[in-house]
Amino acid sequence: MKSGKAVILPAGPKAYARAADILRGGGLVALPTETVYGLAADAMNNAAVARIYAAKGRPSHNPLIVHVLSPDDADIYARVSGLSRDLITAFWPGPLTLVLPRRETGLSAAAGAGLPTIAIRCPDAPWRSALCGTGLSGPLVMPSANRSGHVSPTSAVHVAADLGGRVDMIIDGGPCAGGIESTILKIDGDKVVLLRPGTLPAERFAPYISDLRLPEKSGEILAPGMLKSHYAPKAFVRLNAREKRADEAYLAFGETDIDADMNLSPDGDLAEAARNLYQALRALDTKPVIAVAPIPMYGIGEAINDRLRRAAAER
Ligand code: TXA
Ligand code: MG
Repeated sequence: MKSGKAVILPAGPKAYARAADILRGGGLVALPTETVYGLAADAMNNAAVARIYAAKGRPSHNPLIVHVLSPDDADIYARVSGLSRDLITAFWPGPLTLVLPRRETGLSAAAGAGLPTIAIRCPDAPWRSALCGTGLSGPLVMPSANRSGHVSPTSAVHVAADLGGRVDMIIDGGPCAGGIESTILKIDGDKVVLLRPGTLPAERFAPYISDLRLPEKSGEILAPGMLKSHYAPKAFVRLNAREKRADEAYLAFGETDIDADMNLSPDGDLAEAARNLYQALRALDTKPVIAVAPIPMYGIGEAINDRLRRAAAER
């Protein structure tokens, strides 16, 4: 593992060629996806996967998402049903992770945490074709590039702040377009559970899924990583705040008369709010309390509220 500062290179052919070499050699590369920055390693290499857990301080029972470089590769690692196939056709490449029955392949056992399922996604980001162009065929494991439990990174600076010195290279592709992690659906026969609301709003599944259950309602165990407290700044987070109290930083949404420290979206645009959320939680993490305005529950607002609840949960 590298000590000292991480190498940050601007996204481009040179950076991706170097990234491919590092990944082939079992190293760790942080790079921008369409959701948040991820920390990539070769999913077939046990030692590389172990380094991911160590760099993040991630508990070994929390499995990693396998990122394929082509949508067709899903079948190699998972049993893809008719419904999963329809979702892959509709939404990949894109911010949707599917949890499917796992096939026995050469994937690192540590990445799967011993589960009979596999979480798999094919992201929509320039690095995917750039890495394919170097001859790398994947798959990669790629958790968010933050220390375990902290807020996910949406810029190279966030990655360097959390993991600088623990990774071999960081690729700077500017701020992420989505700003919140991928949506995770678990599919088992015709039973579909929304394990994690995310960048792809649940409404988008209506043409494909008539009965989308939430884990709370289905009695399903959450994704092992979806602990109650997660995505958390150091500050205490106060939700649905309609006033700013002494010693608080106020995070507004939409038009407001309050003397706000930051505004997730002055126009009340939920996509803009999602893009700004983690940046704001990191920037305001100097005050003892971050008070957050109410955020509507439709569209990507569901994912924003989910993350805010976890940021506010008892630790
Ligand atoms: O947008 C994203 O998905 C980002 C980018 C980098 O691709 N990745 C990401 O990975 O958010 P991570 O490791 O931070 O979150 C993955 C979540 C964890 O909560 C983990 O417990 C869950 O997926 N997960 C992984 N494998 C699973 C499985 N077989 N069953 C249920 N949950 C699983
Ligand atoms: Mg994460």
